Amino acid sequence: MDVTPLSPKIGVEIAGIDLSQPLDEATFAEIRRLLNEHSLIAIRGQNLSEAEHVAFARRFGQLQIHVLKQFLTTPYPELYVLSNKREAGKPIGNHKEGWNWHSDLSYLEVPCLGSVLYAREVPPVGADTLFSSMEAAWEALDAETKAKIRPLKCVHSYSGYYAKAFADRTPLTEEQRAATPDVVHPLVRTHPETGRLSLYVGEDVVKEVVGLEPEESAALLARLNRHATSDEFSHRHVWRQGDVIIWDNRCTMHKATPYDDVAYTRVMHRATICGTERPF
Ligand SMILES: [Fe+2]
Repeated sequence: MDVTPLSPKIGVEIAGIDLSQPLDEATFAEIRRLLNEHSLIAIRGQNLSEAEHVAFARRFGQLQIHVLKQFLTTPYPELYVLSNKREAGKPIGNHKEGWNWHSDLSYLEVPCLGSVLYAREVPPVGADTLFSSMEAAWEALDAETKAKIRPLKCVHSYSGYYAKAFADRTPLTEEQRAATPDVVHPLVRTHPETGRLSLYVGEDVVKEVVGLEPEESAALLARLNRHATSDEFSHRHVWRQGDVIIWDNRCTMHKATPYDDVAYTRVMHRATICGTERPF
C-alpha cells in the first residue's frame, strides 16, 4: 500500500489496494490504524459489486440500516443510496442529503462509528464533499474557550434537521419519528480508541446547547461550526467514479455540495458502521 496525505490536518490516500478482494488481517489492521490516525481515507479506482462493498464495510463492525427505508433500493439494506436518479417514477436514493456540516447519524444515542461511501456515478463538476477534522479544530481553540465548553452538552435532533433540510417533502412518519427521538451528547467528545478530544458540533442536526439561552446557544454553535470548518482543518474531495472514502464520524464532520442535477446524475452508496458506545 502507498499512503500519501490528502491535507495537513485530515486524510490520507491509499493506493495499490483492491477492495473487491478479501483483505488479509494485517492489511485490514493497517487500514484501521490509518483511519484512527488520519480520520479519513480515500481509495480510488475501485470496482466493487454491492456485495463486495458490504463485505468490506462489514470488516469494521455491524452495519446500520437507515431509517429512510425508501432509499434502501439495492438488494442490500445496509446500503443507503444517495442519488437524484429515478427509476419507474421513484427516486432510487435520497437527493440533497447532507448539504450541511454534520457527522453521520449523530442524532442516535449511539451514533455511527464511520461511513464507507462508494461513488458509482458522479457528475463531471460539482458534488464535492468537504471533510473537517474536529480534533484539529479542538486543538486549535484557546485555553479559555476549551475550559468553557468542555462540560457542555448539546441536543441533536433528526426531526429538527429533516424539517429544515426537507421542508418540501412529506414529513417523517410517526414510526420514523419514534425511531429518532432527540438525544443529548457532549460538545467535546473523547475518541474511544485514541483517547483524543474533538469538538462534536454540526449544523441543523445540533439544535441547541443545553442550559444556555437560545441566542447564546445559537451564537456559540455558529462560532464553533465556523471555526471547525475553516480551510485550515478541512479537505475537499473531488469525486471520480470508483472512489471509496472511509471516514471516522467520531472526530470529523463533512458536507456535500450542490451540482447540476438536471444535466447530470449522481449515484453514491453508503455503508454505515454502527458505533459501539455513547459519546463521552
Ligand atoms: Fe453524511
